[in-house]
Amino acid sequence: MIIAIDGPSGTGKSTIAKKVASKLNYLYFDTGAMYRSFAYLLSKKHISFEDDDKIKEALSDFDFDIQKDQSGYVFLLDSEDVSATIRQEKISKLASEIAKKPYVRKWLLPVQKSFARKGNIVCEGRDMGSVVFPEAEVKIFLTATPEIRAERRLKQLIEKFPEKASAYSFEKVLEEINARDHQDTTRKVAPLKKVDDAYLLDTSNLTIDEIVDEVISYKKTKEES
Ligand code: DC
Repeated sequence: MIIAIDGPSGTGKSTIAKKVASKLNYLYFDTGAMYRSFAYLLSKKHISFEDDDKIKEALSDFDFDIQKDQSGYVFLLDSEDVSATIRQEKISKLASEIAKKPYVRKWLLPVQKSFARKGNIVCEGRDMGSVVFPEAEVKIFLTATPEIRAERRLKQLIEKFPEKASAYSFEKVLEEINARDHQDTTRKVAPLKKVDDAYLLDTSNLTIDEIVDEVISYKKTKEES
Protein backbone atom coordinates (compact mmCIF):
# COMPACT_ATOMS: atom_id res chain seq x y z
CA MET A 1 0.00 0.00 0.00
CA ILE A 2 1.08 3.58 -0.66
CA ILE A 3 0.14 6.31 1.81
CA ALA A 4 0.74 9.67 0.12
CA ILE A 5 1.05 12.69 2.40
CA ASP A 6 1.24 16.18 0.91
CA GLY A 7 1.14 19.67 2.32
CA PRO A 8 3.19 22.83 2.82
CA SER A 9 6.16 22.97 5.17
CA GLY A 10 5.52 23.18 8.88
CA THR A 11 2.35 21.10 8.88
CA GLY A 12 4.18 18.33 10.71
CA LYS A 13 4.38 16.23 7.54
CA SER A 14 7.75 14.61 8.21
CA THR A 15 7.13 13.87 11.86
CA ILE A 16 3.72 12.44 11.09
CA ALA A 17 4.83 10.42 8.07
CA LYS A 18 7.70 8.90 10.07
CA LYS A 19 5.43 7.98 12.98
CA VAL A 20 2.77 6.51 10.73
CA ALA A 21 5.43 4.48 8.90
CA SER A 22 6.89 3.23 12.14
CA LYS A 23 3.49 2.30 13.65
CA LEU A 24 2.47 0.40 10.53
CA ASN A 25 5.95 -0.98 9.91
CA TYR A 26 5.99 0.67 6.47
CA LEU A 27 8.94 2.19 4.62
CA TYR A 28 9.28 5.95 4.72
CA PHE A 29 10.23 8.32 1.91
CA ASP A 30 10.73 12.05 2.43
CA THR A 31 10.78 13.42 -1.13
CA GLY A 32 11.53 16.92 0.15
CA ALA A 33 14.81 15.52 1.49
CA MET A 34 15.55 14.27 -2.03
CA TYR A 35 15.00 17.76 -3.54
CA ARG A 36 17.02 19.27 -0.70
CA SER A 37 19.88 16.82 -1.25
CA PHE A 38 19.95 17.63 -4.94
CA ALA A 39 19.97 21.37 -4.20
CA TYR A 40 22.80 20.79 -1.74
CA LEU A 41 24.75 18.83 -4.34
CA LEU A 42 24.46 21.73 -6.80
CA SER A 43 25.52 24.24 -4.19
CA LYS A 44 28.46 22.05 -3.16
CA LYS A 45 29.57 21.80 -6.79
CA HIS A 46 29.02 25.55 -7.29
CA ILE A 47 26.63 24.87 -10.15
CA SER A 48 24.51 27.86 -11.08
CA PHE A 49 20.74 27.32 -11.18
CA GLU A 50 20.83 28.92 -14.63
CA ASP A 51 23.23 26.31 -16.00
CA ASP A 52 20.81 23.68 -17.25
CA ASP A 53 23.52 21.56 -18.91
CA LYS A 54 25.49 21.24 -15.69
CA ILE A 55 22.30 20.57 -13.71
CA LYS A 56 21.37 17.75 -16.09
CA GLU A 57 24.86 16.31 -15.72
CA ALA A 58 24.53 16.47 -11.93
CA LEU A 59 21.15 14.72 -12.14
CA SER A 60 22.67 11.77 -13.92
CA ASP A 61 25.23 11.44 -11.09
CA PHE A 62 22.70 12.03 -8.32
CA ASP A 63 22.90 9.17 -5.84
CA PHE A 64 20.39 9.58 -3.03
CA ASP A 65 19.27 7.04 -0.44
CA ILE A 66 17.44 6.80 2.86
CA GLN A 67 18.51 4.44 5.60
CA LYS A 68 17.13 3.73 9.00
CA ASP A 69 19.41 3.45 12.02
CA GLN A 70 18.85 3.45 15.78
CA SER A 71 18.55 7.26 15.89
CA GLY A 72 16.05 7.49 13.04
CA TYR A 73 16.27 8.09 9.31
CA VAL A 74 19.52 9.07 7.64
CA PHE A 75 19.63 10.78 4.24
CA LEU A 76 22.62 9.86 2.13
CA LEU A 77 24.07 11.73 -0.82
CA ASP A 78 26.84 9.64 -2.39
CA SER A 79 27.03 7.83 0.98
CA GLU A 80 27.59 11.17 2.82
CA ASP A 81 25.13 11.71 5.68
CA VAL A 82 23.46 15.02 4.75
CA SER A 83 20.53 14.75 7.19
CA ALA A 84 21.42 17.90 9.15
CA THR A 85 23.01 19.94 6.36
CA ILE A 86 19.93 19.81 4.12
CA ARG A 87 17.75 21.39 6.84
CA GLN A 88 19.51 24.76 6.68
CA GLU A 89 17.31 27.65 5.54
CA LYS A 90 19.66 28.31 2.66
CA ILE A 91 19.04 24.79 1.34
CA SER A 92 15.26 25.13 1.91
CA LYS A 93 15.23 28.08 -0.46
CA LEU A 94 17.45 26.39 -3.04
CA ALA A 95 15.34 23.20 -2.94
CA SER A 96 12.15 25.13 -3.61
CA GLU A 97 13.92 26.92 -6.45
CA ILE A 98 15.34 23.79 -8.11
CA ALA A 99 12.00 21.96 -7.70
CA LYS A 100 10.47 24.44 -10.17
CA LYS A 101 12.44 23.02 -13.08
CA PRO A 102 10.30 20.60 -15.12
CA TYR A 103 13.25 18.44 -16.26
CA VAL A 104 14.43 18.04 -12.67
CA ARG A 105 10.98 16.81 -11.60
CA LYS A 106 10.78 14.54 -14.63
CA TRP A 107 14.15 12.98 -13.88
CA LEU A 108 13.28 12.39 -10.24
CA LEU A 109 9.92 10.79 -10.98
CA PRO A 110 11.21 7.24 -11.64
CA VAL A 111 13.59 7.57 -8.69
CA GLN A 112 10.55 8.12 -6.47
CA LYS A 113 8.53 5.37 -8.09
CA SER A 114 11.34 2.87 -7.58
CA PHE A 115 11.36 3.56 -3.82
CA ALA A 116 7.68 2.61 -3.67
CA ARG A 117 8.35 -0.74 -5.31
CA LYS A 118 10.34 -1.81 -2.27
CA GLY A 119 7.18 -2.45 -0.20
CA ASN A 120 4.40 -0.74 1.73
CA ILE A 121 5.42 2.87 2.05
CA VAL A 122 4.53 6.28 3.45
CA CYS A 123 5.66 9.03 1.03
CA GLU A 124 5.58 12.70 1.79
CA GLY A 125 6.06 15.79 -0.33
CA ARG A 126 4.08 18.23 -2.45
CA ASP A 127 2.90 16.17 -5.41
CA MET A 128 2.64 12.63 -4.02
CA GLY A 129 -1.12 12.31 -4.50
CA SER A 130 -1.31 14.42 -7.65
CA VAL A 131 1.67 13.37 -9.81
CA VAL A 132 4.02 10.77 -8.37
CA PHE A 133 1.50 8.32 -6.89
CA PRO A 134 -1.92 9.17 -8.29
CA GLU A 135 -2.77 5.52 -7.69
CA ALA A 136 -2.08 5.74 -3.93
CA GLU A 137 -4.82 4.07 -1.92
CA VAL A 138 -4.56 6.65 0.87
CA LYS A 139 -3.98 10.35 0.20
CA ILE A 140 -3.72 12.91 2.96
CA PHE A 141 -3.35 16.67 2.56
CA LEU A 142 -2.13 18.40 5.70
CA THR A 143 -2.69 22.11 6.37
CA ALA A 144 -2.15 24.58 9.22
CA THR A 145 -2.12 28.37 9.38
CA PRO A 146 1.16 30.02 8.23
CA GLU A 147 1.65 31.46 11.74
CA ILE A 148 1.41 28.06 13.42
CA ARG A 149 3.71 26.57 10.79
CA ALA A 150 6.25 29.36 11.33
CA GLU A 151 6.18 28.74 15.09
CA ARG A 152 6.82 25.03 14.53
CA ARG A 153 9.61 25.69 12.01
CA LEU A 154 11.31 28.19 14.36
CA LYS A 155 11.26 25.65 17.20
CA GLN A 156 12.69 23.00 14.88
CA LEU A 157 15.48 25.29 13.63
CA ILE A 158 16.48 26.28 17.16
CA GLU A 159 16.58 22.62 18.20
CA LYS A 160 18.64 21.63 15.16
CA PHE A 161 21.01 24.57 15.06
CA PRO A 162 21.15 25.93 18.66
CA GLU A 163 24.35 27.85 17.92
CA LYS A 164 22.42 30.01 15.45
CA ALA A 165 19.33 30.51 17.66
CA SER A 166 19.86 34.25 18.09
CA ALA A 167 19.87 34.74 14.31
CA TYR A 168 16.33 33.35 13.88
CA SER A 169 13.15 35.34 14.36
CA PHE A 170 9.48 34.44 14.07
CA GLU A 171 8.90 37.24 11.51
CA LYS A 172 11.75 36.08 9.29
CA VAL A 173 10.65 32.43 9.40
CA LEU A 174 7.04 33.45 8.65
CA GLU A 175 8.21 35.55 5.72
CA GLU A 176 10.23 32.61 4.36
CA ILE A 177 7.31 30.22 4.80
CA ASN A 178 5.00 32.57 2.90
CA ALA A 179 7.57 32.99 0.12
CA ARG A 180 8.08 29.24 -0.18
CA ASP A 181 4.31 28.58 -0.14
CA HIS A 182 3.93 31.06 -2.96
CA GLN A 183 6.71 29.44 -4.95
CA ASP A 184 5.48 25.88 -4.35
CA THR A 185 1.79 26.58 -5.10
CA THR A 186 2.22 28.81 -8.16
CA ARG A 187 4.92 26.93 -10.09
CA LYS A 188 3.88 25.65 -13.49
CA VAL A 189 4.81 21.99 -12.97
CA ALA A 190 3.30 19.86 -10.21
CA PRO A 191 2.32 22.74 -7.91
CA LEU A 192 1.34 21.95 -4.36
CA LYS A 193 -2.39 21.32 -4.35
CA LYS A 194 -4.95 19.08 -2.74
CA VAL A 195 -6.40 16.53 -5.14
CA ASP A 196 -10.10 15.69 -4.93
CA ASP A 197 -9.56 12.24 -3.48
CA ALA A 198 -7.24 13.42 -0.69
CA TYR A 199 -8.39 13.72 2.89
CA LEU A 200 -7.89 17.31 4.13
CA LEU A 201 -6.55 17.36 7.65
CA ASP A 202 -6.06 20.70 9.42
CA THR A 203 -3.30 20.17 11.97
CA SER A 204 -3.43 23.68 13.51
CA ASN A 205 -5.02 22.56 16.76
CA LEU A 206 -4.03 18.92 16.89
CA THR A 207 -1.11 17.23 18.60
CA ILE A 208 1.22 15.02 16.56
CA ASP A 209 -0.22 11.89 18.17
CA GLU A 210 -3.78 12.98 17.37
CA ILE A 211 -2.83 13.52 13.73
CA VAL A 212 -1.03 10.16 13.51
CA ASP A 213 -4.09 8.39 14.98
CA GLU A 214 -6.35 10.20 12.53
CA VAL A 215 -4.21 9.16 9.54
CA ILE A 216 -4.13 5.54 10.69
CA SER A 217 -7.87 5.42 11.32
CA TYR A 218 -8.50 6.99 7.88
CA LYS A 219 -6.30 4.29 6.32
CA LYS A 220 -8.36 1.60 8.09
CA THR A 221 -11.59 3.17 6.82
CA LYS A 222 -10.20 3.15 3.28
CA GLU A 223 -9.15 -0.50 3.61
CA GLU A 224 -12.60 -1.49 4.79
CA SER A 225 -14.46 0.43 2.11
O1 DC B 1 9.15 19.21 2.39
P1 DC B 1 10.40 20.06 2.31
O2 DC B 1 10.20 21.41 2.94
O3 DC B 1 11.60 19.36 2.87
O4 DC B 1 10.69 20.29 0.75
C1 DC B 1 11.73 21.12 0.27
C2 DC B 1 11.34 21.74 -1.06
O5 DC B 1 11.27 20.72 -2.05
C3 DC B 1 9.96 22.40 -1.08
O6 DC B 1 10.05 23.81 -0.96
C4 DC B 1 9.36 22.05 -2.40
C5 DC B 1 10.17 20.92 -2.91
N1 DC B 1 9.41 19.67 -3.00
C6 DC B 1 8.70 19.48 -4.16
O7 DC B 1 8.65 20.35 -5.02
N2 DC B 1 8.06 18.29 -4.36
C7 DC B 1 8.07 17.34 -3.44
N3 DC B 1 7.45 16.19 -3.66
C8 DC B 1 8.77 17.55 -2.23
C9 DC B 1 9.43 18.75 -2.04
